[in-house]
Amino acid sequence: MSTKRSLLLLPGDGIGPEVMRQVRRVIDWYARKRGIEFQVEEGLVGGCSYDAHGTPLTDETMARALAVDAVLLAAVGGPKWDNLGFDKRPEAGLLRLRKEMELFANLRPAKVFDALVDASTLKPDVVRGLDIMIVRELTGGIYFGEPRGISDLPNGERRGINTQVYDTHEIHRVARVAFELARKRSNKVCSSEKGNVMESGLLWRQEVIALHKAEYQDVELSHMLADAAAMQLVRNPKQFDVIVTDNLFGDILSDEASMLTGSIGMLPSASLGATDADGKRKALYEPVHGSAPDIAGRDLANPIAMFLSFAMALRWSFDLQAEADILEQAVENVLSTGLRTGDIMQPGMARVSTSVMADSILREMDKLATA
Ligand code: IPM
Ligand code: MG
Repeated sequence: MSTKRSLLLLPGDGIGPEVMRQVRRVIDWYARKRGIEFQVEEGLVGGCSYDAHGTPLTDETMARALAVDAVLLAAVGGPKWDNLGFDKRPEAGLLRLRKEMELFANLRPAKVFDALVDASTLKPDVVRGLDIMIVRELTGGIYFGEPRGISDLPNGERRGINTQVYDTHEIHRVARVAFELARKRSNKVCSSEKGNVMESGLLWRQEVIALHKAEYQDVELSHMLADAAAMQLVRNPKQFDVIVTDNLFGDILSDEASMLTGSIGMLPSASLGATDADGKRKALYEPVHGSAPDIAGRDLANPIAMFLSFAMALRWSFDLQAEADILEQAVENVLSTGLRTGDIMQPGMARVSTSVMADSILREMDKLATA
């Protein structure tokens, strides 16, 4: 039996390939410098897969994603594919991966590096030291609910329908992830929904309360309507530790949270499935940012969200905590020397390209590894 760790890399579209190219160098670094080897394969997802195969994700790539220890995905989408039907759009490839791998828990940490306190559009005091974790439900809700579609009405109008739906087990399993995480952090969970107007939100709240009562009474639990949470996230984000919420609100709140950290180019994410009998769980790691077609191919993108996503893979899929520390520390150190990609550029700092940022982080990893 091979113990080699397996990874499937899905660079995708836009800036995806250029940030993935840099993370490949990080993966090679671990083999070269730390003797930690990964068996790496690459595949297509998104618009590039549509161009090559007429579908945003082939069955073959889907099967490979199910077989490896972890998938790293960079970004999908772009204007070129905007007019395709929903099942052919680049995003459909990503949604199929999430659904078929059953990645119901999406962890989106928003951490403010000291060096970037001034890069946020919020006042330094509001964001300094911020460290929150958004746990987003990822395989249910309005993203996947039926019925859905656009239909023609007899009166000549058209109707668009989506369905927000959650069952008890879907709420419990993601809330459980949030409670477990909170126990390792500041032991606080804020659950967010719109239970004042949506039955699915009311059920969400009731089921989170029931689970809390049955198994997690030691964790401090609060509830906040999603609109209020959006407001509180910019007013006083440090009141939060772990936020657990549904698929759609999680999508929105995590984009908002990213700007607390200075740039969406900084935020990693881990999408996790259930733990099986061998203690393994399916996992996909991807930056929160998109494919940024406006800057694609010009060596301008920030590779840090992709690097930090790989660090999350080291932690969650391979239990290599000290190795993940090296990568995260290297990112932090390089930022404190004043290097910045365009998205986090500040007066007095040195603006660098994607590849120079990566070079610098790799050099810093060398230093940390020999220290
Ligand atoms: C995200 C993205 C995706 C989502 C898109 C690309 C389908 O915005 O991961 O946050 O809406 O989930
Ligand atoms: Mg999003």
